[in-house]
Amino acid sequence: MAARVALVTGGTGGIGTAICKRLAGLGHKVATNYRNQEKADAWQRQMQADGYQVALVQGDVGSPESAEALVRGVEAQLGPVDILVNNAGITRDTTFHKMTPQQWTEVINTNLNSVYNMTRPVIEGMRARKWGRVIQIASINGQKGQYGQANYAAAKAGMHGFTISLAQENAKFGITVNTVSPGYIGTDMVMAVPEEVRAKIVAQIPTGRLGTPEEIAYAVAFFIPEEAAWITGANLSANGGQYMGW
Ligand code: CAA
Repeated sequence: MAARVALVTGGTGGIGTAICKRLAGLGHKVATNYRNQEKADAWQRQMQADGYQVALVQGDVGSPESAEALVRGVEAQLGPVDILVNNAGITRDTTFHKMTPQQWTEVINTNLNSVYNMTRPVIEGMRARKWGRVIQIASINGQKGQYGQANYAAAKAGMHGFTISLAQENAKFGITVNTVSPGYIGTDMVMAVPEEVRAKIVAQIPTGRLGTPEEIAYAVAFFIPEEAAWITGANLSANGGQYMGW
């Protein structure tokens, strides 16, 4: 497989780390963003100890200016971005009748506006070079809804709406745009759900367990090679059978 430059947002998180490792392991040059210097330094030391090189560039995906500077910083270090994985995301779970404007706005900004902020500065280069991969990490809860996640489900469903529009606009330019919709994965985000609530959710998963970050990284990597050039606008569910939309 040709070596490409990949930018994975939120790469220091649970799923993000596994995506960085998988893409680096496939020979791609990988970069991610960070906001907290101390956390990022510790993460990079661990990645190096595990045998992976990942470039770190400071930047907030929720700000258009910061996202553009982040992309230019990655280009300066590694070259033009061929693969963008929009993975950064947060939760602010609460039932809607209690949801504050801040809980709504933070989730929409970090999870959905970020997709505009990050994709806009890379798309023209991909079109000019006639090759690109844009992959959104959405969620099972964008497909089926989730009690306590009106903000998150709206953002995640919006991400796939973005995917299927951008896929149409850019198909002629050798760019594919796809979504991976993870189910419940054993990350800090899911472990923050109260234990008794989480146990009920796991009971609804046919595989009888949470997924692993590596299982999501595998789904992301699927969309990258030349053989995947015909696959665009897809929403790939990786959820242990918890939701089987079609
Ligand atoms: N369906 C129906 N009723 C439900 C329910 C459900 N799924 N979940 C909770 N309820 C009910 C409870 O039984 C309870 O009912 P009673 O009042 O009659 O006893 C009531 O809702 C509790 O409502 P409250 O508004 O008081 O809720 P709360 O403040 O206690 O907490 C919550 C609500 C924050 C939503 C909590 O239930 C929760 O954390 N749920 C999990 C949300 C979730 O799945 N988040 C995913 C995070 S991980 C992630 O997002 C990654 C990914 O992509 C999968």
